[in-house]
Amino acid sequence: MAKTSMASSFAAVLLDESSSVPLYRQLYDRLREAILIGQLPPGTHLPSTREMATELKVSRHTVFNAFELLQAEGYVEGQIGSGTFVARTLPEELLQARAGSQNISLVNPEARPVSQRGKIITRTQIIERTGLPIPFMQGVPALDEFPIATWSRLVAKHWRQSPQELLNYGRADGYAPLREAIAAYLGPSRGVQCNSDQIIVVSGAQQAIDLAARILIDDGDPLLVEEFCYGAARAALLSAGARLVPVPVDEAGLNISVVADSTSARLAYVTPSHQYPLGVTMGTSRRQALLDWANRARAWILEDDYDSEYRYTERPLPALQGMDRNGRVIYIGTFSKVLFPALRLGFVVAPPDLVDAFVTARATLGWCSPTLDQAVLADFITQGHFTRHIRRMRTIYAERQAALIDALEREAGDLLEIKASDAGIHVTCSLSNRIDDRAVSREAAELGVVAQPLSAFRVDESVAVRSGLILGYGAYNIRQIKEAARKLGTALKNVSRVARTSANRRRASQ
Ligand SMILES: Cc1ncc(COP(=O)(O)O)c(C=O)c1O
Repeated sequence: MAKTSMASSFAAVLLDESSSVPLYRQLYDRLREAILIGQLPPGTHLPSTREMATELKVSRHTVFNAFELLQAEGYVEGQIGSGTFVARTLPEELLQARAGSQNISLVNPEARPVSQRGKIITRTQIIERTGLPIPFMQGVPALDEFPIATWSRLVAKHWRQSPQELLNYGRADGYAPLREAIAAYLGPSRGVQCNSDQIIVVSGAQQAIDLAARILIDDGDPLLVEEFCYGAARAALLSAGARLVPVPVDEAGLNISVVADSTSARLAYVTPSHQYPLGVTMGTSRRQALLDWANRARAWILEDDYDSEYRYTERPLPALQGMDRNGRVIYIGTFSKVLFPALRLGFVVAPPDLVDAFVTARATLGWCSPTLDQAVLADFITQGHFTRHIRRMRTIYAERQAALIDALEREAGDLLEIKASDAGIHVTCSLSNRIDDRAVSREAAELGVVAQPLSAFRVDESVAVRSGLILGYGAYNIRQIKEAARKLGTALKNVSRVARTSANRRRASQ
C-alpha cells in the first residue's frame, strides 16, 4: 500500500511498501528526482530525519540511509540529522540529467501506450545492483579481488598495437581469438563439446536468453521453466510471447517426468549446474531424462551455466551440453560472475544448425560487443590469468560462504535453515513458512541489508509458498559478512516476534 505525504518544503513523496525496492532507496529516488527537476532548488533546507520519518511514517533509519546516499553523491550537503540542504552546486552531469528529467515528466503515458510486449517488460521488477555492492546483494563477485593491474596492462597493450581495428565495427559472432579461447577453455573445464564456429559472443547471459527466445519462440508457445526461476530470464521469455509451464525442482534438480503434457513445449530453460535460486545440482539421471524428453518432443534446452566455475566440493559436473548427442542443447556462459558484471560479455554455444540464426539476431540487436574488451579478455584467458583468477577466488569464496553460514547460524540459527552450497556465490536459506520472507526482506532493507525473498522467484502463484532468503556472499569480506549477518538476525527476530504475536492474538480470539 502506498503512503503519501506533502511536506511543506518538498514534493509529494510516494513510498510503496509492497515493492521489493527498499524504502530508503525509494525515498532517495524521489528526493533525487525532485532535486533534478528543480522541485527542490539548490539551498533548500530539508526537514530533519526525525520530521521526515514522522511525516512519511517510516523509520528514521530509512530517512537517514536515503540522506546518506544523497550526500555521498553530492545532491545534498550539511549535517544529516540537523541541517541538510540541497547542494548549491550540483555536478555538471547532474545538471544535464535535469533537462532530461523535465522532458520525461511532460509525457503522459496514457496517451502513448506501449505494446503488449512492452507492457510485460514494464511490469518486470529490475533488481538494483549498481554502485558498490551492499551485503547480501547477490550475483556480484568479489570486485575488490579483481586483478585490475593485469587487466589495465592488457588494455594499454591493445590500444598501442591495433587501435584502428578496435575502433571499427566488430564481427557479429564475436572477436575470433576470443571465440577460440572460449572453445579451448570449455572442453576441458566444462565438458562442452564445440568448436569456435559454434560460439557467438553476446552482452551477457541475459542477452543470450533474449536472443534464444526471439529465435525459437512464437506467441503462446509453451515453455518449461524451473519452479523457482531466475526472474530476469522469466521476463525475457515472457516478453518473447512464451507461456511458461513451471516444472518442480527437488534435491536432484528439475523433474521432467512429473509434467503431464510436456511434449508440446518448444523449449526448456534450465540451470542444471547450480539451480537458480534453490542451489541444487541436477543429477545425471535427471539430465538424461531431460535430454530424452527434448529428443522426443523435438524441443530445445536452454542451459544457463551462469556461475558453475566455482565449485567447492567435487570436480564440476560436466555441462548438459556435453551429454547431448542430438544437438538439442543451447549452452549459455557468462563472464559476469567469474570476472565482473560490467564487462557485459557472455556467449552462446549453438548447435550448428542454429548458428546463422543466432549470428543474424545478434547483429540486429546491437551488432557486436566492444572489440577492445573482447581482445583483452582473449589475452586474459590465453595467458593463464583466467584460470589463476578462478583458482584463487575459489578459496576466497569458500571462506566467505563458510563465514556467512557460521555467522547466520549464530545470529538466527533457530529461525532459519542454511546449508552449504556446492557452487556459485550465493546461498539460499529456508525460513519457517510462518515467517513471511518479503517482510524479512523489507525489515532487513531498513537495517541496510539486502536479503532477497525466495517467494519473489515463484512462477506459479498457486504453488504453496516456500519462505526463504537468497543471500549473495561473493562480494563481501568477512567483517562485512559478520556485521550484515547480525543485522539480518535482528530483522528475522523482529519479523518472527510480530508473526508470533499475531498468531497468539488469532488463537486467543477463536
Ligand atoms: C541464473 C542467472 N542467469 C543469468 C544471469 C545474467 O547474467 P549476465 O550478467 O551475464 O547477463 C544471472 C545474473 O545474475 C543469473 O543469476
